Amino acid sequence: MENFRYYVPTDIRFGKNRLNELPEALKQFGQKILFVYGGGSIKTNGLYDEVLKQLIDFEVSELSGIEPNPKIESVRKGIQIAKENNVKVILAVGGGSVIDAAKIIAAGYYYDGDAWDLVLDSSKINLALPIVDVLTIAATGTEMNRNAVISNSETKEKLGAHGLNLIPKISFLDPTNTFSVSKYQTAAGSIDIMSHIFEQYFNSTLATDLQDAISEGILKTVIKNTPIALKEPINYDARANLLWASSIALNGLESTGKIGGWTVHPIEHELSAYYDITHGVGLGIITPRWLQYILNSRLDVTKKIAQYGKNVWGIVGEDDLKIAQKAIDETYSFFKSLEIPMSLSELNINNEN
Ligand code: NZQ
Ligand code: ZN
Repeated sequence: MENFRYYVPTDIRFGKNRLNELPEALKQFGQKILFVYGGGSIKTNGLYDEVLKQLIDFEVSELSGIEPNPKIESVRKGIQIAKENNVKVILAVGGGSVIDAAKIIAAGYYYDGDAWDLVLDSSKINLALPIVDVLTIAATGTEMNRNAVISNSETKEKLGAHGLNLIPKISFLDPTNTFSVSKYQTAAGSIDIMSHIFEQYFNSTLATDLQDAISEGILKTVIKNTPIALKEPINYDARANLLWASSIALNGLESTGKIGGWTVHPIEHELSAYYDITHGVGLGIITPRWLQYILNSRLDVTKKIAQYGKNVWGIVGEDDLKIAQKAIDETYSFFKSLEIPMSLSELNINNEN
């Protein structure tokens, strides 16, 4: 295991009926708020009204319409509103896209140049406005991490930026806020959670038993609860397990003591940059193919995929290569059972693309 620093100061407020804590959560940062949200799901499910009720004592500016795969134009708009209104804290209510946009708005508030500079070069991210969020979908882990992923449709780039000051100060995780997430987005979110684990688990640093065991536990949790949430969208326990899995899968815990890069995410981000596809769906298509591609590349790789097969899927046997192959097949079948596209052509990405 390698040396590491683990610093995740987010104050997590998990569970239902906690929105009345919002004024206290925000007040410590100031009275002037930028309320950021997405394309309208929070208006349809009533969360928008519930949040506004809590904000009567605050001066509120709004930025709506943050798109999935959030665009730099929305970030620029948010920075302008925040500067014009001398905002003190950002309240992001929505999914990963809304929270990621809020993060770069928060940093852009203190930056004099164009916000895209911050995405291209994280070393330019210093101070940032505090962020409080109400998460509405289990997927990215942004609610408890330092990352933001922003797209630029002009340059066809989708890039991650990072900064310690981007870590949300307080995240409200209420599983009931995820009841209205569609089947498609629920499935995509679960695959995203699993992919975050895969990126950190399939790693050649030795002696990371604890990190691996936590990873295997999260994978089993997602595999168990996703079909339940798809069948019963308002099943509290299923939604609760997925929501907490999303935060724990990408808050740095599973990569502590490990070194190594990510593989599937960078490929998916290129696909999203060009074709604006749903992140988790892209990951679902690429992941089993990538596992197949690396399967026989090195003995330790085969062994690690076999470990995943044994500990997550309960596959038994003596031959690691056979177990690993079965694990890849199980992964593909599981993703397919979630009824999402499993090929690029189903997303209209064909040979000419
Ligand atoms: O925009 P609204 O109307 O809110 O609808 C959204 C959107 O259409 C909808 N939705 C969210 N919560 C809902 C809901 N619909 C009904 N009920 C609810 N409660 O779901 C759609 C997708 O939302 P989005 O925020 O895009 O989803 P997600 O959380 O999966 O975020 C994806 C983005 O995060 C990036 C992805 O690349 C993508 O841009 N990622 C961010 C990471 C990070 N910051 O650490 C890591 C990830 O690997 C990922 O790259
Ligand atoms: Zn992801």
